[in-house]
Amino acid sequence: MSLKVIISGASSGIGKALAKEYSKNGAILGLISRRKNVLQELKKELPNSCFIYALDVNDIKACQSMANDFIMHVGLPDIVIANAGISHGTLTEYYDDLTTFQQIIKTNLFGTVNLFQPFVGLFKSRKKGSFVGISSVAGIRGLPGASAYSASKSALSNYLEALRIELSEFNISVINIAPGYIESAMTAANPYSMPFIMKVDKAAKKIIHAIYLKKKFIIIPWQMAVIGKIMHMLPVSIWDWLAKRSPRKPRKIEN
Ligand SMILES: NC(=O)c1ccc[n+]([C@@H]2O[C@H](COP(=O)([O-])OP(=O)(O)OC[C@H]3O[C@@H](n4cnc5c(N)ncnc54)[C@H](OP(=O)(O)O)[C@@H]3O)[C@@H](O)[C@H]2O)c1
Repeated sequence: MSLKVIISGASSGIGKALAKEYSKNGAILGLISRRKNVLQELKKELPNSCFIYALDVNDIKACQSMANDFIMHVGLPDIVIANAGISHGTLTEYYDDLTTFQQIIKTNLFGTVNLFQPFVGLFKSRKKGSFVGISSVAGIRGLPGASAYSASKSALSNYLEALRIELSEFNISVINIAPGYIESAMTAANPYSMPFIMKVDKAAKKIIHAIYLKKKFIIIPWQMAVIGKIMHMLPVSIWDWLAKRSPRKPRKIEN
């Protein structure tokens, strides 16, 4: 029987690459993003059946309607991937950045919760299913200039860990994928060099493999996993010294 997979943030980057790879492997997909026209174009490219949902993951009612529609047409999904996310530099001293701060936390954290919520009870009853969150190496330590993004991904990681433990007795996997740098629209404008940056198609294959293996937590690529472990262990004073010298993501000028 075909795998049924729901993916948010499917109109671009990692989500789009996941959609293409899963579809090539015969999965039936539910694809989510705000830009309907981009999803429609993607649907034409995919070899297998897919349902598209133009919605904002911050809208819980829209997420619930999507879940009901997908279940009605296809059945309960096997895998739900909360990949939609946004990233901008933020500085607390600027009043205008507070809106960006809220958008980032809302989309990256609550957008994930909103997407999972309609499926948790149903997965528990079925005693099967996988929830996947896409966090980031940026969530391991506080990154200067990216305070909102870093905080959102750190919070997301802790949320995923709590959910994983809550659901473990129901045979439900919660998988936390923490990418380093991946080639996508999100990283295209970064005005600094990005070590070990990975092609998006390769990243999608690695993510799908990790989901198949039901990994609890994985950093990709492996070089970033080594760096992530070191980041985690560094004493505060050394982290501060290093991070002060790290390049910074530009602020979002218009909200
Ligand atoms: N690229 C990296 O190096 C990297 C590293 C670590 C983690 N990540 C994480 O990986 C995920 C995917 O990133 P990416 O690099 O593929 O970025 P991307 O190319 O910018 O794609 C982001 C996707 O999220 C969707 N999205 C954003 N806000 C949304 C909302 N409110 N509701 C529904 N969809 C929304 C966008 O679609 P619409 O605009 O059409 O809504 C788009 O499809 C993100 O969570 C990101 O934080 C990326």
